[in-house]
Amino acid sequence: MIKYAEDAAVWIQQSVESRRSAGGAVIVLTDTNTRKLCLPVFQKLIALQAHALHNITIPAGETNKNLEQLSSIWQGLTLAGAGRDALLICLGGGMVTDIGGFAASTYKRGIGVVHIPTTLLAMVDAAIGGKTGIDFEHYKNHVGTFYPPEKVLIFSNFLITLPDRQIKAGFAEVVKYALISGQPLPVFPQSSQSEQWLDIIRRSANNKMEIVEKDPKEKGLRKVLNFGHTVGHALESYALAQGLDLLHGEAVAAGMLSEIWLSLQITQPHRNILTNYIDVYSQLFDKLPFGPESIDDLVSRMRHDKKNSGSQYMFVLLGSDGKAVWDVPVDEPLVRQSLEFLFASNTHTV
Ligand SMILES: NC(=O)c1ccc[n+]([C@@H]2O[C@H](COP(=O)([O-])OP(=O)(O)OC[C@H]3O[C@@H](n4cnc5c(N)ncnc54)[C@H](O)[C@@H]3O)[C@@H](O)[C@H]2O)c1
Repeated sequence: MIKYAEDAAVWIQQSVESRRSAGGAVIVLTDTNTRKLCLPVFQKLIALQAHALHNITIPAGETNKNLEQLSSIWQGLTLAGAGRDALLICLGGGMVTDIGGFAASTYKRGIGVVHIPTTLLAMVDAAIGGKTGIDFEHYKNHVGTFYPPEKVLIFSNFLITLPDRQIKAGFAEVVKYALISGQPLPVFPQSSQSEQWLDIIRRSANNKMEIVEKDPKEKGLRKVLNFGHTVGHALESYALAQGLDLLHGEAVAAGMLSEIWLSLQITQPHRNILTNYIDVYSQLFDKLPFGPESIDDLVSRMRHDKKNSGSQYMFVLLGSDGKAVWDVPVDEPLVRQSLEFLFASNTHTV
């Protein structure tokens, strides 16, 4: 399912060749940044000229993971003459793989899709596991499908052009894997070209894949991957609605701080987890662009969380052995206190 570096290059060359010689269309979906920075690298990789592949480009940024851009991708596929034998290659971060996966799952009731993630977050998380979707009515991933890609192809050298802030945001998900499996927290490598990155990506991507293979439709175990995301998605949706600048990984990093605090109240992991996490968090992330005035709104957003059961808030928390447990009911007053804790501890500047 996941291929890395040379293996990935060989696979995509052969796959594009055989699809094209059988008459199937191959379309590369990019956003405005990955078209400029990643498409030329990809074309070199598969030794094809720019005009030899169809390209659909959508504007970069989370605010474009919407119905309008989804429709523009369907339109681009139609213009490219894509039939059911077409292959859509999503070359970009999680925004591109989410919306591209959704477009591929719905166009002609489903065409082939391959993800080539170009951000750390997409390499270790978003491109893996087959969840697709768009944001709708200011709710994150409100409409979507489960649609596994044929392959995820990982080339860590795309990280060379990725801004430092994006790399740190992706690292939040790497830290999440350590937290949910009770492992020591990883150290952030100092260079984007570091050899360490491929190891980190491989370990995290394989961690996710193992969990997804055991529970592809998130009936149980896969829920652990949502640690930090109940609060994280509410923070991200709030920022999106207010036009404030907050990346997905930054929202998850802050969400994990709240949810570690909740864990200490309810499921009681070792207290060191909180201090160790605060060390990592304050080194990597700036303070949130809003404060406790958002709490009412955040709580109301969490009521829409897909993990809830009826009117009960359900969380993934860290258990007494340090590993994640899921479907933990939490009362609203405690949810509010966890947000108060988050904003009270979120006073650092980096
Ligand atoms: N489906 C899932 O399981 C899943 C899991 C986690 C996150 N997500 C989704 O992923 C999205 C966030 O992903 P993201 O952080 O990758 O955001 P993103 O795709 O918006 O990429 C971040 C920015 O980096 C730019 N970029 C991408 N690759 C680059 C490169 N190599 N060099 C320079 N710039 C580059 C993009 O154009 C964009 O401006 C959110 O929509 C989130 O909901 C999905």
